[in-house]
This record gives sequence, structure tokens and C-alpha cells, in this order.
Amino acid sequence: MGQTLTEKILDDHLVEGELETGEEIGIEIDQVLTQDTTGTMVWLQFEAMGLDEVQTEIAAQYCDHQTYQFDFKNTDDHRFLRSAAGKYGAYFSRPGNGICHNVHRENFAAPGKTLLGSDSHTPTPGGLGELAIGAGGIDVTVAMGGAPYYIEMPEVVNVRLEGELPEWATAKDVILELLRRLSVKGGVGKILEYTGPGVESLTAPERMTITNMGTELGATSSIFPTDEQTEDYLERLDRGDEYVELQPDDDAEYDDEIVVDLSDLEPLIAQPSMPDKVVPVSEVEGESVEQVIVGSCTNGGYEDILPVAKMLEGREVNKKTEAIVAPGSKQASEMLAREGWVAEMMAAGVNFSEATCGACIGIGHVPASDSVSLRTFNRNFEGRSGIEDDNVYLCSPEVAAAAAIEGEITDPRNLDDVEAPGVELPDEYDGSKTDLITPEEAVDDELVKGPNIGDVPLRDELGSDIAGEVHLKMEDNITTDHIIPATQDILMYRSNIEKLSEFTLSRVDDTFAERAKNADGGVLVAGENYGQGSSREHAAMCPMYLGIEAVLAQSFARIHRANLFNFGIVPLTIDEDTYEDIDQGDEVEIVDDVYEAVTSGQEEFTVRVGDEEYTATLDASERERDILAAGGKLAWTKEQAEGGSG
Ligand code: F3S
Repeated sequence: MGQTLTEKILDDHLVEGELETGEEIGIEIDQVLTQDTTGTMVWLQFEAMGLDEVQTEIAAQYCDHQTYQFDFKNTDDHRFLRSAAGKYGAYFSRPGNGICHNVHRENFAAPGKTLLGSDSHTPTPGGLGELAIGAGGIDVTVAMGGAPYYIEMPEVVNVRLEGELPEWATAKDVILELLRRLSVKGGVGKILEYTGPGVESLTAPERMTITNMGTELGATSSIFPTDEQTEDYLERLDRGDEYVELQPDDDAEYDDEIVVDLSDLEPLIAQPSMPDKVVPVSEVEGESVEQVIVGSCTNGGYEDILPVAKMLEGREVNKKTEAIVAPGSKQASEMLAREGWVAEMMAAGVNFSEATCGACIGIGHVPASDSVSLRTFNRNFEGRSGIEDDNVYLCSPEVAAAAAIEGEITDPRNLDDVEAPGVELPDEYDGSKTDLITPEEAVDDELVKGPNIGDVPLRDELGSDIAGEVHLKMEDNITTDHIIPATQDILMYRSNIEKLSEFTLSRVDDTFAERAKNADGGVLVAGENYGQGSSREHAAMCPMYLGIEAVLAQSFARIHRANLFNFGIVPLTIDEDTYEDIDQGDEVEIVDDVYEAVTSGQEEFTVRVGDEEYTATLDASERERDILAAGGKLAWTKEQAEGGSG
């Protein structure tokens, strides 16, 4: 039987296991990336493990989330990251240089390679045929130290593209259409592999908009085959020699198939406040828009902003609307500036911003209360923009530009005298040779830690009892933004867990952190898809620090589930009836000897609540059980290195 492209790349990197769906496999990682808000813990854990030097082909540390440096704590973090990159042998990208995924795709992403990143949108270079996966920081730390990355072999789904996009429909509409059909849970446990005759009509940057936002489907990764479009893009980046042709075999078998006829697509929009609340733009046309932002790792490339500049050329941003353009990389900014497009946009009334994640995580450009903000980003979870009860819509740059012109949500097909700009790549990406500090150019050779850089928190080995109060009962789709918000007043404590933990779940219940800290243990209860969203391991690390021992949920998002294991919190799955019966404040006891049950491979656990008993399931590999038993991945990795039993 032939192989899918995913299987070919995994096969090339396989160090343990077999490529059977659901089986645990270990794969070799070629490249790692990390960013400023997850990177501090990545390097502190690298240090705590006693590792000396990066072992992967490429390791890159980007500073993109908190680039405004509101406080010395941010600047201290960036200085620490520069020193860690220098000491251990990673590339360092300074604040202002761009968003990790944009800078990585410009400089390092390459067909056939594997990439592990401590950011959930790491799958972006799947559009170039790289198999890229987002993970928690400690998984990146361990991979960077040269160990394999372990994952359950996902299902591989064939997303077959037919036809060609009509005028005004864009790559963003392809992924919005998939979100409309499959929901934010539709990709969980899956890798989406794009095939079919429609692929060749999409440029590499368009493909990367689609693979970037596969994360919103919950997918482990998304990948395109490589072809002339891939080669062409790499040549324009002056990296043509890194091109490799990669295609699935003709007789490859997939676990499932989805067909999207590109020619049927029209401009789409995700309504507040979930990326899958997708409708045609025409359905919400006329809604007044106070703010438009073009940028982010989804649509912040040169090729995304150029259409906006062309649509605004000789026109004015509507008086009732603020329009902000924040490119994804300094390279995109510099090229647009040299070509005169920045001046053109500024003349139209655009506020041109630095290359940063910024507004995507509520840092700067917070919308006015009770107003509509239309963004080209990938996420619109409630409150992520920096204000609770926000109204953030997600759309293509073209729809964003149409709203900037009209001051209201507008189907661009209804604009008078505005031509569809289409997609245009520059002859060469010549703005930069992006401003990276190479390992050879390292400025520091020792770690520099300011007063805000704390210690790595550790948990003891798993005990035999778990009993305590249900400190919080939560609904479906709780995001990592709910667990540890990413707003600037909180982000500055990402390297200081004692302080950061005070904000744990504060957006759900602001008494939680104190209650949990004062209690002796305890558990959390949640509905479906608990922990969706970002890769931030702080969403497991802080509950661990506060003493949470188990999370009982109807289902878990992939990266967060791994993070719970990594920080010694037992993730137990419960059914809907059990979820309904348990209330916040109940006393819960796991009847089994927990250590014994976890290490012996027991799957069903008995949970006692008052006089009732329920069944909860631990679905975990032997390795994951060993990690739990050790008290988390750091302790487990050290045990392994020291030849312990783990
Ligand atoms: Fe940054 Fe938002 Fe992407 S936070 S990495 S631009 S999802």
C-alpha cells in the first residue's frame, strides 16, 4: 500500500513505534522554535535538566508576543532569552523582527523537515511541506536536547481541493469554510493533508494561511505537497536549493476525505466569539465597524498586506473606523516601505504598526467597549482582544479592507470601482535577510537573569491518594486564554510562576487561585475540549503550582492534555452524566490507589462524590503514565538521563 505524504515524512523520522493510527510513535525533530512568552520556561527547563547545547539542526528563539516592553520585566525576559540562545546555540530574533511563524517560514522552514514549536500555530510551514507540530514548552526543551518527540499517530485526512478560487474568495475563506463544516473540534487527533487539482492554484503563502489556521480546527498539523509553487516561493526567498519534491503515493489510503470545491467559495467571516461561527460576509453586511486590523501570523505576510494597500490606494479609511496594519515580519514591513506601499496606506489613514503579535493577544489596539472589531487573525475567543464581551470578527485582508473603506461589514464584491487585487508575490524577498543573530554571532555566553526570572516549579512524585474539593466546574471549550490570560499586565510574569499563578482561571472565577492555594489539593471539572487554544504550558504549570491534582473533563485539547501529563496533573475523562452530577464545591475522592493504578496501566478509575460512585478514564500510553508517576516531564527526563527506573 502506498503512503500519504504525512506517513512518508514520519517514516523518515521514526525512531520508535509503528505508523498505526492511535499508536504512540517517537519521531526525530529537525527544527524547533519558541517565542518569548513560552521561551523563558523552555530555557529555564533546559538549564534545570543540565543540558549543554542545542542538538537539533535549527533552534530559533523569537521575540514577538510582548514586544512593546511596557515594563522592565518584558525587557528582562528578552535579555534572558538572548543570553540563553547565545549560551546554548540557538538563533535569536529580536523584538520587532517579526512573528515567529513568519520569520521562521522566511528563513528556515523547508520541505520534508520536522518542526516542533512551543506555539500552537507552529503548523504554519505545512504549506511548504514541512511537518510542523505545536507542543508544550517542556516537549520542545526535551526535543531540543536531542530526544525524540512522542505523539499518538494521528488519523490522516485527505482534504481534496478542486477548482480554483473565484475573484474575492481567498485562502482565508478555504480554512473558514473548513471551520464552518468541522467546528473547532473537527481536527482533533488528525493531520489534514491537502491534495487534489486545486492545490496547484494556491501560492505557498496562501497555503500557509490555511495550514496556520488548521490549529483552530484542533488539528495536530496540516500539510501540503510540494510543487512548482513551493519551489518558486523558496527561490524568491533565495533558498531554492532547499526545495524537495514531496507527493503522496497515488495509492495512498487516508482515514477520511473531505472535498472542497474552491470555485464554490465566497467571502466568509467568523462571528464573535469562536473561529467556527462562520457565515458568508453577505449575511452580516451593514454591521458598523469601529476597528479593522490586518496582520498576525495568519495574514500578516507581504502578500496579505499588498492587496489591502492596493484596495486603499487613492482612497480613504472611513471616518468612523480605525484601520491598523501590523505586518507579520520586519521583512514584509521593509519591503512594503521600500515599494512605497506603506506611504500609500498611511496617506489613506492607516495606522501602521510594528511587526508583532500585539493585538492578537490583547496587547495594544484594544477595541472600544461594545464595538465591532474586524481582524484578519486566527482567533476571536471572548476577551482575547483585551476587553471582556468583545465583538471580534475574523476575515480575509480583502474583507477587512472593504470594511475600512465603507465603515461597515461589506462583501467586497459589492464595492464600487474597486478591483479584486488578487495574489502577487514579490520578485524577491529582499528586505532583510531577516535580522537574526546566529549562534556564531551570540552576544552572551552566560545566562542573564533579572529579578523577575523565577525558578522552574516542580511537583513531587505522584502519591497514592487524590481527594479534595472541586474548586471550579467549567463549561465546554474553555481555552488556555481562560486558564492563563495573555494580556500584557499578566504576560510579564511568564517567567515568574509564583506571581503568574495568582491569575489562574481569574477570567472564570477570580477567587479560584486563592482558594486553590489555601486548600490541600483539589480538582477541576470541565466539559468538552478543555484547554483548547494556545500551547502555553503555564496553563498546566500554574494549576500544578496551586496544588491541583487532577482535571476531570469530558474531553481535552491535544496540547493541553500533553501539558497536564508534563506537569503531573492526572487528566481523567468523564461522561456527560457524570459531568452533570458533579458540582463545584463537592468533595471528590479517587477510590483507587492512584500511583498503583497509573503505573499498572489501569484505565478505569472510581471517583466517589458523596455517596455516589462514577467511572473516569485515564487514556494514556506507558510513557505518559511514567511521566505522571515521576511528577512531570522534567523529573522523568532527569530520571531517564540518570538511568532511573522511570
Ligand atoms: Fe502571535 Fe497571534 Fe499568531 S499571538 S503567533 S499572531 S496567533
